[in-house]
Amino acid sequence: MNKKSVHIEYAEFTSLNELAEMDVTLINKALHIAKLSYSPYSKFPVGAALLLDNGEIFAGNNQENIAYPSGTCAERTVLNYVHANFPDHKIKAIAITALKSASSEPVTPCGFCRQVMVEMEQTQGEKIKVLLHKIDGSTYVFESALSLLPLAFADAYLKPGT
Ligand code: THU
Repeated sequence: MNKKSVHIEYAEFTSLNELAEMDVTLINKALHIAKLSYSPYSKFPVGAALLLDNGEIFAGNNQENIAYPSGTCAERTVLNYVHANFPDHKIKAIAITALKSASSEPVTPCGFCRQVMVEMEQTQGEKIKVLLHKIDGSTYVFESALSLLPLAFADAYLKPGT
């Protein structure tokens, strides 16, 4: 038996002043769009804003439904929109934030969204920086979406002969 471990590295910024200007812009866009979230069931508004390689910023929020599984997280609202409309552009970074939270930590994406982010990252062949922001609190910065989903299921498993 071999014992193995996975190491995940991320940076914690305790003040927005420590972050690059564009990262702060993304966080502010995410905060802004979180306020427009449709989340009457969870009452947990989330916003996500991403930067494309052409400098454009897009944002999305969680969109819930009375048939609960029909709802979509903020991340996938904007990721799928961008992938549908700008398939040839690369996503440089995504900021995610919740308007309120009982946790002292920034909101972290669900497994479903992590899987989607990892696939987009691997398809575009360039890392996506992920910023997780807590209002009036810390921001966690991951240099790659894959850091949030170690041992991710990816296309290598489906390639014939592997
Ligand atoms: N949610 C997101 O939109 N993103 C996350 O990173 C975590 C959770 C949403 C899904 C649901 O609408 C609500 O938050 C409560 O789970």
